[in-house]
Amino acid sequence: MSDAVVSAVLNVDVKGPVISRHVYGHFAEHLGRCIYGGFYVGEDSDIPNAGGIRLDVVEALRALNIPNLRWPGGCFADEYHWMDGIGPKEQRPSMVNTHWGNVEENNHFGTHEFMALCELLGADPYISGNVGSGTVKEMSDWVEYLTREGDSPMVRLRKANGRQEPWRVPFWGLGNEAWGCGGNMTAQQYAAEARRYGTYCRDHGDNRLYRIAAGANSDDYSWTEALMKQLGDLGCAYRPQPFYQALSLHYYTIPGTWQDKGAATVFDTDEYYRTLVKAAHTDELLTGHSNVMDCYDPGKSVGLVMDEWGTWWNVEPGTNPGFLYQQNTLRDALVASLHFDIFHRHADRLVMANIAQTVNVLQAMILTDPDSGALVLTPTYHVFEMNKGHQDATALRVDLLSDVPAREVGPDTLKTVSLSASRKDGKVLVSLSNLDADGAADVELDLRGGIVGEVVSRILTAGAPQTHNTPDAPAAVAPRSHEQVTVTGTRVRVHLPAHSFVTVQVDVA
Ligand code: AHR
Repeated sequence: MSDAVVSAVLNVDVKGPVISRHVYGHFAEHLGRCIYGGFYVGEDSDIPNAGGIRLDVVEALRALNIPNLRWPGGCFADEYHWMDGIGPKEQRPSMVNTHWGNVEENNHFGTHEFMALCELLGADPYISGNVGSGTVKEMSDWVEYLTREGDSPMVRLRKANGRQEPWRVPFWGLGNEAWGCGGNMTAQQYAAEARRYGTYCRDHGDNRLYRIAAGANSDDYSWTEALMKQLGDLGCAYRPQPFYQALSLHYYTIPGTWQDKGAATVFDTDEYYRTLVKAAHTDELLTGHSNVMDCYDPGKSVGLVMDEWGTWWNVEPGTNPGFLYQQNTLRDALVASLHFDIFHRHADRLVMANIAQTVNVLQAMILTDPDSGALVLTPTYHVFEMNKGHQDATALRVDLLSDVPAREVGPDTLKTVSLSASRKDGKVLVSLSNLDADGAADVELDLRGGIVGEVVSRILTAGAPQTHNTPDAPAAVAPRSHEQVTVTGTRVRVHLPAHSFVTVQVDVA
């Protein structure tokens, strides 16, 4: 059987919306070995560190240009009391992390350590405040502690803890999953709380907070509607009140059930396709939530933030069920590449997205060995790296001239070729995924409106979708140069082997 051929036109001189770099955002929760053992090993560790922060993890993440890091949760955010995490470490009170493994949290990684981590990474902090079990005063004080200059009670406390200058904190979360672990509230209840908390999270000096209300779970469109209603009237005259500037959305890719989600590395072809169908559902969710927001805010002044996304598998056998540690295969990489194509298409409303989570938890970029400390970059890491040229680039529309190959997966249809493109600094970057487990495909791109120059292509694939990286085989899935690209005038033809992710970067004058 001959390979499927997809033809597409890119008008490289027609500018779409800017793809915010923040859709390549990250998430680090006090959960399992994400913070402790992942990002933070303490000053006394043999692992090279700066103030306890692992330098090998920082170096690996700097290569991704990670734009922002969300912390301290997740569910943990709504039981975190920030004042427990400042001052001399030996005097910080402990607590029980009731959500994640019922383990004791010593609070050695707190506000100053998180801000130091962001500085090392060159990433903007995105702090999730505690609405579920906190108080308005507690959250308001935290903002003052972090961002106010001059003299005030919280400024004096910060200075006493060794930090003179305020930090810049652009992103602020008003709780997390308020419909569940963040307080089990109704939409109306939470919307009122979000107004109240948002009011007292002040802009100190020239720090401008972008307040993000805890948004919907998956397809709960009525939650989104309740939050939009709280901001103002319906329609064209919409002038959103400044209580919050964005709403979040959480959706995880799970082919099984919450009780039995499926294994990270052991799966058959049916489960592989079911996973990708679940990942592709993100497009419908972003469309649905954007449509609701459009009714209230056609000018798109309120942002949508998908601050938790990614695969969620059964934990690796023998690991703590509360730690959510899972391996990461080429299948996870394709889930990520598919998400990014979707995110790029929704660049007009989607202002941020955060994969869950960065190190050792769920769909991680980095796995660290608890015994040897060895660090492994996952296939998902490589997608973030290969795609980083899309950050803050202008989205280009992809006009298809032919059908995209598709297959029936139960009651659903999965398009097995996905692509997106952007332009920045005289270069067009095209990302292409072939989701077919067995069959190759060819894509012919016609880059109209520019003169095509040098073309550089890279590929991420492996013998099977189950392939993953380990300390013994750290590069089983790693990008390499892709030679199966031909250029004829403005036409660039790209061969996509089965289960592969390819980037093509084209100099365009
Ligand atoms: O990312 C793991 C958990 O998933 C987060 O703590 C919570 O917000 C979500 O349910």
